[in-house]
Amino acid sequence: MKYTKRLSTLFSELEKCEKFADVGCDHGYCAEFMLERDLCAHAVVSDVSAESLKKAQVLLANYAAAGKVTSVCCDGLEKIPRDCDLVLIAGMGGEEIVTILKNGFLPRKLLLQPMKNTRKVREYLLSQGMEMIADYTFADGKFYDLIKAEQTGRASAYSEKELEFGRDNLLRPSADFLEKLRTEIEKKKKYLLSPVDGQAREEITLSLERLEEINRETRKYI
Ligand SMILES: C[S@@+](CC[C@H](N)C(=O)[O-])C[C@H]1O[C@@H](n2cnc3c(N)ncnc32)[C@H](O)[C@@H]1O
Repeated sequence: MKYTKRLSTLFSELEKCEKFADVGCDHGYCAEFMLERDLCAHAVVSDVSAESLKKAQVLLANYAAAGKVTSVCCDGLEKIPRDCDLVLIAGMGGEEIVTILKNGFLPRKLLLQPMKNTRKVREYLLSQGMEMIADYTFADGKFYDLIKAEQTGRASAYSEKELEFGRDNLLRPSADFLEKLRTEIEKKKKYLLSPVDGQAREEITLSLERLEEINRETRKYI
């Protein structure tokens, strides 16, 4: 089976645990990856959509028959056992991820891949004292953010720029992050050539200046 680069990047951050949960699992590939490699003793797959969950149930039928997989149709963490020590939530908006965590519980380890509003996820994790072990952008046709967080008791405050762009992106900028900056800068410059005025022009100009500042700062590291 050939996985997308996005899924392969998620896999590269999955680590050994006792009970793994994939919330919003859809296809179920992540649980399959964990079980195939003996990275977890048990996996819980969940999705709010019964139709999506069905795909994972079909894929993981042999593991379920062996008692190694539980599948639950539910909203967020509603029916996820609290002893799941690694929880993956990928492919949803940042606000939705925060709502799921607020309405549920804070697992010991989280792997998150928000599609947008990543800043809100960072703010929430920090407000709960979770340390972001990894926080970076990668590309697979479009740009994605990945956050790996743990309850370590060692969370340190983020600066304004870190909240906006992600700590690893600023300290160890990858080619993908630099490409994202370039793309965003070009997009904003092009937009400013169109007849946009008033507050919108001001906001885009400010945002462009900020991106150019980050672009200059991160280039020091390469
Ligand atoms: C874009 S897919 C991502 C699938 C997979 N996690 C991945 O990253 O490839 C999003 C999945 O999340 C499910 N979903 C959305 N909101 C959810 C929620 N509140 N609770 C559980 N599942 C949810 C959707 O039904 C869908 O199957």
